[in-house]
Amino acid sequence: MYEDIVENLAEGVVAVDLEMTVRVFNQSAEKMTGVSRSLVIGRPLCEVLKRDLRIVEMIEKTLREGRLFAEYDEKLHSRFSGELPVGVTTSQIFDADGNLTGAAALIKDLSGVKSLEAGTLRKERLAYIGTFAANLAHEIKNPLSGIRGAAQLLKKKVKDEKLDEYARVIMKEADRLNLIVNEMLDFARPANLKKKPVNIHMVLDSVILLLQEGLGPAAIVKGYDPSLPAVWGDENQLTQVFLNLVKNAREAIGPKGSIEVRTRMITEFHIVDENSPGGKMAAVEVRDNGCGIRPEDLEKIFTPFFTTKPKGSGLGMAISLKIIKEHGGYLRIDSAPGKGTAVAVYLPTVEKEKG
Ligand SMILES: Nc1ncnc2c1ncn2[C@@H]1O[C@H](COP(=O)(O)OP(=O)(O)OP(=O)(O)O)[C@@H](O)[C@H]1O
Ligand SMILES: [Mg+2]
Repeated sequence: MYEDIVENLAEGVVAVDLEMTVRVFNQSAEKMTGVSRSLVIGRPLCEVLKRDLRIVEMIEKTLREGRLFAEYDEKLHSRFSGELPVGVTTSQIFDADGNLTGAAALIKDLSGVKSLEAGTLRKERLAYIGTFAANLAHEIKNPLSGIRGAAQLLKKKVKDEKLDEYARVIMKEADRLNLIVNEMLDFARPANLKKKPVNIHMVLDSVILLLQEGLGPAAIVKGYDPSLPAVWGDENQLTQVFLNLVKNAREAIGPKGSIEVRTRMITEFHIVDENSPGGKMAAVEVRDNGCGIRPEDLEKIFTPFFTTKPKGSGLGMAISLKIIKEHGGYLRIDSAPGKGTAVAVYLPTVEKEKG
C-alpha cells in the first residue's frame, strides 16, 4: 500500500540511505528528470542528479544536519524539457526504533503554476498601463486646449502672413494631438456598448460615403449579400471599426488601386476557428490591392502605436480589434506585400444572439 501511494504521487519522490545512495525514485521523479528508475536505484545521488547539485546538497543537509526545506524554489534539469521550476520539500527518515535511516525529497512540478503567475502578472501590468495612459491622456488635454486657444487668439491678432501660417500650424497640430489623445482615452476606457440590431450594410454605406471623397467612382466596389441578417452590436463602435479598415485600405492603395467591401453569411463557423462557439455569423471583408503588410509586421499591427505611416497614430487596428472582441467577434487578416490585404471581420448576428 505505502509503495503504491509513493508510486502514484503527482510529486516526485527521491529517497536516499545514510550513504546518499538512491533507494526510492518514483514514477513522477522519472517523468520530471527523464531518467529511468532502473538506472538510478543503488547509485549515488550526486551522480544521478549531477546537474542539480543544489537539490543534492539540500538532501544531504537534511540527512546530516536535520535541516528541513519546505517548498523551496529550485530548478530541476529534465532530459527532455530543459529546466523545470520545482518546489522541494525534504525530511529525514527514521525506522520503527527511531534510528535515522535516510532522507527523502518531495519534488513538486511548478511549471503550470509559474506560467499562470506570469500570465496574471502580464494582465495586471496591462491594466496598469491602461490606467496610466488614461490619466496621462487626461492631463495632456487641458494644457493642449490652452495652447490651441492661445494660437487661435494669436491668429486673430497678427497681420503678418508668415506668422498667421505659424499659428495655423500650431492649431492644426494641436487638433491632431487632441485626436490621438481622445483615441487613447477611448482605448483605455472600459467598454460601454449599447447593443441593438444593426444593419451592417447601412454602416458600410455611410463609411464608404465618407471615405470615397477624392477617389474615382470605381475605386470602391460593393458586394453585399442581401439576405444578411442584422448584426447584434453598437452602431457607432462598428462604424469606427469599418472607418479604420477602409481608411487603411485607402491609404494602402495607389491612384489605380481599388477596394472591395463584401458581406456574406457564415453558417459553419468552425471553418474559421475551431475554438469558436459556432452558429451564424456575418462576415464583412475589406480587400485592397495596395502595398500589403510585411510578414514581420503582421503581428505588430494590433499593438497600440505601431505604425508605418509618417502621420499615423497606430491606434486604428488596436481599437478595431478591441471593439470586435467586445462584440464576441473575430478578425482575420491576410496580406501579401505588393499584392494587397484582406481583412475579414466576423460578427454575431441577431439570429444567433436569440438562439
Ligand atoms: N490595408 C492595409 N494595407 C497595408 N498596410 C496596412 C493595412 N492595414 C494596416 N496596415 C499596417 O498596419 C499599421 C497599423 O495600422 P493602424 O490602422 O493601427 O494605424 P495607422 O493606420 O498607421 O494609423 P491610424 O489608423 O491611427 O491613422 C499601418 O501603419 C500599416 O503599416
Ligand atoms: Mg489606420
